[in-house]
Amino acid sequence: MATPSTLCCAVLLFLFPLQFMATTTPSCPGDCDPTDADDNDRFHFAQNLEFLEAEFFLHGALGKGLDAFEPEFAKGGPPPIGGRRANLDYLTRRIIEEFGYQEIGHNREIVRRTGGIPRPLIDISSQNFAKLFDKAVGYNLDPPFDPYEDPIKYMLAVYAIPYVGLNGYVGTTPCLKKFASKQLVAGLLGVESGQDAATREWLYKKGDEKVEPYDITVVEFTNMISGLRNELGKCGIKDEGLIVPKELGAENRTTSNVLSADSNSLSYPRTPQEILRIVYSTGDEHRPGGFFPEGANGRIAREYLYNDQLRGL
Ligand SMILES: *[C@@H]1O[C@H](CO)[C@@H](O)[C@H](O)[C@H]1NC(C)=O
Repeated sequence: MATPSTLCCAVLLFLFPLQFMATTTPSCPGDCDPTDADDNDRFHFAQNLEFLEAEFFLHGALGKGLDAFEPEFAKGGPPPIGGRRANLDYLTRRIIEEFGYQEIGHNREIVRRTGGIPRPLIDISSQNFAKLFDKAVGYNLDPPFDPYEDPIKYMLAVYAIPYVGLNGYVGTTPCLKKFASKQLVAGLLGVESGQDAATREWLYKKGDEKVEPYDITVVEFTNMISGLRNELGKCGIKDEGLIVPKELGAENRTTSNVLSADSNSLSYPRTPQEILRIVYSTGDEHRPGGFFPEGANGRIAREYLYNDQLRGL
């Protein structure tokens, strides 16, 4: 008779080769991978990014995070690491404060409709951004990049965040089954892409300015951040900076690229795997790091980590 422990081993033996195959296949995930995820799993996955945005915007604008407004949304998850009030001008602070409140609303709706997940550990320290920007430029910036130092650096750091959320919503939308889910994702995607557009337009106006004290312009930084995300995502070009070769511009007619989109100007989709590769900064959905040093939460993200343990990595 099969005891629980022999059953467990049979399952393990069955899973090992599958997991091994998965790591040796270099291809991109299918459109709705993981295919067994239900609507709630997909919103729980997205909530990781909504938490990250809420914490980064609220701290940047106001010097306090989600716990100062809606402490129960974290469901006991740890407070973020390294959030600070950024040195912003009046106008930029007003924009970011509004973004922050919008993220509270997004988290509220996800909690209300799907129950929500515990907030994962989130690293929004200047050290983490410094590492990310070093990776983007390909060498160690001196002094290290600090997003909290001035409006341009803060907005470049913002450039690095909601866009990935937007890609995730575009990717997950066709996979949703229920009316209520489609209604929710449309509302979230609309505001997420609005935040991305407002951020990019803010930066576009300052495109040729050097980001002090580096010998790198705003446009150059955006191109390098987008380049890094394409590299980490491992699924081609889905991310474009503010000035691009004409082949990547709208209708191949312009190098101006206020919005990042494909050859027919449709927003790029990304799967959860691609998103984790990027927000972990490791290029590997099984290996946490970056903004989520202990991994993202919810069934989709945790299962990749669980597989990692099965492989003994
Ligand atoms: C733009 O160029 C790409 C190839 O670089 C091509 O596939 C696409 O059809 C072109 N679009 C237009 C509108 O000419």
